[in-house]
Amino acid sequence: MSDEALRSTELRKIYRSKGAPAVTALAGVSMDVRRGERVALLGRNGAGKTTFLRIASTLLRPTSGSIEVFGFDVDRTPEKVRPFIAVVPQEGKPFFHLTPREQVYTYLRARGFGRETARSRTEESLERMGLTEFGDRLSITLSGGQRQRTMVATVIATEAPLLFLDEPTIGMDPFARRGVWDSLRTLTQRGSTILLTTHYLDEADALADRLYIVERGEVLVSGSAEDLKRAVGGTLKVSMPQGAGEIERFRSFGTCVADGAGLTVIVAPERLGELMALAVGSRLTATVGPVTLEEAFLYVVGRSIDAD
Ligand SMILES: Nc1ncnc2c1ncn2[C@@H]1O[C@H](COP(=O)(O)OP(=O)(O)OP(=O)(O)O)[C@@H](O)[C@H]1O
Ligand SMILES: [Mg+2]
Repeated sequence: MSDEALRSTELRKIYRSKGAPAVTALAGVSMDVRRGERVALLGRNGAGKTTFLRIASTLLRPTSGSIEVFGFDVDRTPEKVRPFIAVVPQEGKPFFHLTPREQVYTYLRARGFGRETARSRTEESLERMGLTEFGDRLSITLSGGQRQRTMVATVIATEAPLLFLDEPTIGMDPFARRGVWDSLRTLTQRGSTILLTTHYLDEADALADRLYIVERGEVLVSGSAEDLKRAVGGTLKVSMPQGAGEIERFRSFGTCVADGAGLTVIVAPERLGELMALAVGSRLTATVGPVTLEEAFLYVVGRSIDAD
């Protein structure tokens, strides 16, 4: 078997439907995911993330290009790929007439696990997702976040070699999200590989070994969260709540973003002293903090939108 869990080369997808203009959802995406990695696919609404995951998980055929999972061509041999993967689809819902316990167990049995394994994995997975208390209630009576937890519980219970999760923590409370992160970390420690999408940049930062930012069907940047933060020109952020009026004096230090009366400057650590001296000289209160992944994302994607 191949060393890579997933590799796509120049993957393209054009949606064509009668009477509507064609939509290029993927314009040549090349990416790889190594075994045991947790990789996050980031991008604005409509960037092409779900399209990529649907192709990778054999649910949709590409227009051109190639994609392999553990060395098997996904488009030509989907039946070889399916046993290796499990998917949490975007906006998926558990079967309304099943309880979470029945849903997870039935899914494991359908995938070929024996009764004993299915039973113990079901219990472990419900416990991990904090669903023990709701395990025997019909899914239709569960809250939105509890249903989403059921979807994730179903897929993590498979311990499949490659898991695709499309916005897995949407609608979950901060405790439940951390429960998902822990479970995904445990799965990769046990040898699984994970490709997920998320709009929560703190989640990507906490969870992903590497990120791909997709914009209009193309990979804009890839690397670790730290790489991306460095790419914005510095790793520190200086906030001056009354600094907007002085923006021109700070431009040479790095990226400046005015927000109401406030000013934020992204600055390289070696120029921090100089910047603080100028702030003090200008009688501005200034606080220093790390750049978040969200700020780096806004900067990198924003710059690409401006370039058009
Ligand atoms: N079945 C379809 N027919 C036509 N166009 C489609 C279809 N599905 C998606 N698209 C278009 O393809 C593009 C990519 O959509 P996709 O769902 O992959 O985006 P996404 O990155 O997952 O966005 P989001 O963050 O909103 O989930 C969008 O412009 C979307 O409108
Ligand atoms: Mg999507």
